[in-house]
Amino acid sequence: MPKVTYVSDTGEVRVIDGTAGDSVMQTAVRNGVPGIVGECGGVLSCATCHVFVDGADLGRLEPMNDLEDEMLDGTVVDRRPDSRLCCQITLSEELGDLRVTTPEAQE
Ligand code: FES
Repeated sequence: MPKVTYVSDTGEVRVIDGTAGDSVMQTAVRNGVPGIVGECGGVLSCATCHVFVDGADLGRLEPMNDLEDEMLDGTVVDRRPDSRLCCQITLSEELGDLRVTTPEAQE
């Protein structure tokens, strides 16, 4: 079972057992992880699921598509090289555990 470690902008850590096939956003919202809103439900139209992906994990993710790239230009907290919209990160046994940090604001 893939685990997702969510670190808040103030350093609080939540570790959640995820389910393969769910996104990092769905896993956060279902478990009440603060700092991830997921307003659009994962259809790439809100950018309220912005996270910073741990450097060790970033290169293992599928590359972002053009729409995610475009949406990342509209996040409340400015994007960084390690930014992703976590509704686009799907958990799997192959991908394994992930660690993400939430920005100080999403809306
Ligand atoms: S949940 Fe809306 S873009 Fe990810």
